This record gives sequence, C-alpha cells and structure tokens, in this order.
Amino acid sequence: MASETMASFTTPALKEAMAEVATAIDALFDEVLAVPDDPRAILYEAMRHAAIGGGKRLRPLLVAASAGLFNVDRHSALRAGLAVECVHVYSLIHDDMPCMDDDDMRRGKPTVHKQFGEAVAVLAGDSLHALAFEIAADPRTHADPFVRAELTFELSRASGPAGMAGGQMMDLMAEETRFDLATTTRLQQLKTGALIGVCLEMGAILGHVPPAGRKMLRAYARDLGLAFQIADDLLDVEGDAAIVGKATGKDAEAGKATFVSLLGVERARTQAAMLVDQAVAHLSGWGAEADLLRAIARYVVERDH
Ligand code: IPE
Ligand code: IPE
Ligand code: MG
Ligand code: MG
Ligand code: MG
Repeated sequence: MASETMASFTTPALKEAMAEVATAIDALFDEVLAVPDDPRAILYEAMRHAAIGGGKRLRPLLVAASAGLFNVDRHSALRAGLAVECVHVYSLIHDDMPCMDDDDMRRGKPTVHKQFGEAVAVLAGDSLHALAFEIAADPRTHADPFVRAELTFELSRASGPAGMAGGQMMDLMAEETRFDLATTTRLQQLKTGALIGVCLEMGAILGHVPPAGRKMLRAYARDLGLAFQIADDLLDVEGDAAIVGKATGKDAEAGKATFVSLLGVERARTQAAMLVDQAVAHLSGWGAEADLLRAIARYVVERDH
C-alpha cells in the first residue's frame, strides 16, 4: 500500500533518482564503515545499523540534484551528499536518546541506544559527526582544495550552534516555553533548514558557482526546509507509525510548539503547499535541468514517511 501511495506523487524520474542515490549511499557507507577486526567492531556495527539500509536519503539527493545543474562529477556529488548524511544520521542517533526525544524506533528498526546501549550510541553519533568532515575534506571528494575547504566550512556552520545543534537546543526549550510563530520558524530553520540548505549550497560549491550565483538556490532551500519540517510535524500528528518508521504523537506528548500546534492541521498543510509553490517559483530561471528539484519539492510535502 505504501508503494501505491508513493506512485501517486513521485514522478518516474524522481523515483529513479531516489533509488540510484539510495543504492550509491548504501555502497559508500558500506565502504567507509567496514568493520575492523578489533575491539572497535561494535562501534562500527552501531554506525552501520543507523546508516545503512534506511531513510529517504533526501539530503544526498538534494546535493545530487543541485550538482546536476552545474555539470558536477557524479562521484563528487555523492561523496558530498554522504558527508551531509553522516551529520544527519548522527543527529538522529542523538535525537532519539533518552536525554532528548527518548524514542525506540527509527527507520523501522530499534534505535541505536536500544540495540547497542547509550554509551555506544553517543560514540556512534560522535564518530559519524567527525567522519562527515573527514569526507568533506578528503581529496577523493574533490580535487580542488578550495572547494573542499568551502564544503567543510559550510557543513560545519550548518551543523553547529548556528545550525542543527542550535535548532535542537531551541527544540528542547520549546517543551517548556511557548514560542510564537516567528521563534518557531527560526527554530525549524536551524534544526532542519540549515542541513537542507547546505545540500543545495554544496552542489553550487562543487560547480565553482560564486556566492552571488546561489541566491535562487538558497531561497528554494529556505522554503523547502520549512515545508519539509511542517510535513514532519504533520506526520507526527497524522502519520501511521508503521509507515513512518518511527513513533508518532511525540510532539503533542512533549507539549512541543510546532507549526501544527500553532496553526492547526489545515493551516499547516496550506502553509506547506504555499511554501512548495514558492520554492518552485525560485527555480524559474532554470529549464528542464531543474525538474528534479521541482519534483523533490512536491514530494517533500506529499510523502507518507
Ligand atoms: C527526520 O528526517 C528528522 C528531521 C530532520 C525532521 P528525515 O525525514 O529526512 O529522516 P530519514 O533520513 O528519511 O530517516
Ligand atoms: C529532529 O527533529 C531533527 C534533528 C536535527 C535530528 P525531530 O525530533 O522532529 O525528528 P524525528 O521526528 O524524531 O525524526
Ligand atoms: Mg527531536
Ligand atoms: Mg525526534
Ligand atoms: Mg519530528
């Protein structure tokens, strides 16, 4: 049933691109996370559990789609996407821990701390976090050291206190403080939007596009990131846990201010649809080469997991 639903809102080209990226990212993770024959084996097993064979791989797909606008080498784009996915997976491992959201299921499997214990989960997250920057700075990702430095710089910024980690801090505060819409928007821009934004930015960096040429992509990313998080919040309220692959009803249980708690389901859905239209409008300067980015924007709000 899930695949029937998928077929109704994914274009054949998007389906193919998603499958290709997912296969490539699994293969790259398999390579970089080869289990050593020593006492660190369990750390690698935990990283593999979290990183391989799950997730939509939306972030690597966005890097590939952005890179596709600028004739970037496919392998470079996939490795940059792998670096972002490392940060994303690390953030999920820590997000699920008892000290944060205390979740048992992720991507249809037990969370890392459930399967391997909390200490291993902390270290698996730490290791993927570090690995992300190792991959971004690796000459195998791009031959040009200036490109590698910029990839590393932008990914660091998007991951830290001015990006994902800062957003996670605000998200914890949202359990105790009633944030208004402007503050909630800022929270989501940091928590989710920053990592989505860096994906689009990376495609341009790999293509040697100067910052002045990235404005429309940044605008697309900003609207897409917000729409994506509204969809995540809607899935928490309305989704089927078996399809979503993680527990639902968690935000309301924690008393968290989200777009859905602030706007209600209907207005949140309308807002997400409007943001997608806006995101697509920012791509008007491109032709068919941006069709994948357009399809991703539609998919982000229509997805069921
Ligand atoms: C979930 O992200 C966490 C958020 C940032 C809202 P995704 O919905 O992209 O999770 P996966 O990678 O597909 O599992
Ligand atoms: C987490 O947001 C976003 C991260 C930066 C990890 P959520 O807590 O809403 O993500 P889910 O719903 O557990 O995937
Ligand atoms: Mg959370
Ligand atoms: Mg969570
Ligand atoms: Mg959520």
